[in-house]
Amino acid sequence: MKILVTGAAGYVGSYLINKLLEDERFADYEIVGVDNFLVGKKENYELIKKNGRVKLLQGDICDREFVDDLLKDTEIVYHLAAISGVVQCNRNPMLALKINVEGTLNLLENSAKRDVEYFVFPSSSAVYGNLSEDMAKEDMPTKPLNNYGAMKVSCEALCLGYYNSYGLGTVILRFTNIYGVGTYPKWRTVVSNFILRALKGEPLIIHGTGEQRRDFVHIDDVIEIYKLVITPKAKGEIFNAGSGYTASVKELAEIIKEISSKKGKEVKITFEKARESKERTFGYDIGKLKSLGFKPKYDIRKGMEKTFGDIQNLIESCGITEYQKEI
Ligand SMILES: NC(=O)c1ccc[n+]([C@@H]2O[C@H](COP(=O)([O-])OP(=O)(O)OC[C@H]3O[C@@H](n4cnc5c(N)ncnc54)[C@H](O)[C@@H]3O)[C@@H](O)[C@H]2O)c1
Repeated sequence: MKILVTGAAGYVGSYLINKLLEDERFADYEIVGVDNFLVGKKENYELIKKNGRVKLLQGDICDREFVDDLLKDTEIVYHLAAISGVVQCNRNPMLALKINVEGTLNLLENSAKRDVEYFVFPSSSAVYGNLSEDMAKEDMPTKPLNNYGAMKVSCEALCLGYYNSYGLGTVILRFTNIYGVGTYPKWRTVVSNFILRALKGEPLIIHGTGEQRRDFVHIDDVIEIYKLVITPKAKGEIFNAGSGYTASVKELAEIIKEISSKKGKEVKITFEKARESKERTFGYDIGKLKSLGFKPKYDIRKGMEKTFGDIQNLIESCGITEYQKEI
């Protein structure tokens, strides 16, 4: 039987494939990765550990015939291909709609026809948007503030539709901000930006007061979540998928400043004008995921120490110019 990972050349997809290949539990599966290289680079396929069990393809999740063929003998679909992020979805809304929603529908339709057992969809905390409560729980109404969040809500509804109509084993994971070094460090987030600036001896810039809080989840914990939800109990369910701790941007900067100082590099924290945002800060209840057995391995400090070390090692091995080119 096969596991299909879409978005295989992306940040999370490429790392997920490498981690599945290392895991005994998935030793009997062939792992097929697919990407059209719209965002992920072809070179990222070179970083996936090749062995007889992995097949990496170029293809488009919107292509019906291709997807139908792809899903033959597939037991698990990890559907990660997307135009990901608020800015990217606002910049090109029609393309994002096609890939994120139509592409997901194409995969769901063909997965139902091919009797796929598990269809795991990474949604986002962006679905909560303008939440009026202080703590986000899965059964609260979704109020997205942007195209990205709205498209995630649409895909969630489609997943639930296929679960209810056809019994497809859909699992929805509402991830928070994923950080940490995966197979390749392409992405730019507040965490990687701060660490890179610290390593260059530049000040860590906070926009506004830095009191805005976010949940940050380490990529290794994300991979554990992806493995954990392959259980009948998760079918048809929605899970908040984060660390369960919301850190302020200021706290994050202070932790990175401290780690940097321990490594002999003093950096300053500076404050600049706030960027406009309608987002509210709320806590993230991960009790439902914990009841499946999830125990985050990384708290914010341990995760930042690991990520700092990983980025430092990468820069030492390839040089800062090459590293910056990569991201
Ligand atoms: N990274 C995060 O913090 C985060 C948080 C919440 C949810 N997610 C979700 O997790 C998923 C993976 O995120 P990521 O950070 O790895 O994103 P990414 O952009 O690194 O990877 C997505 C991959 O999908 C590929 N792709 C795009 N359109 C395609 C198409 N039509 N056919 C085939 N491949 C296509 C891209 O080339 C890219 O390699 C996305 O759905 C994202 O919205 C990510």
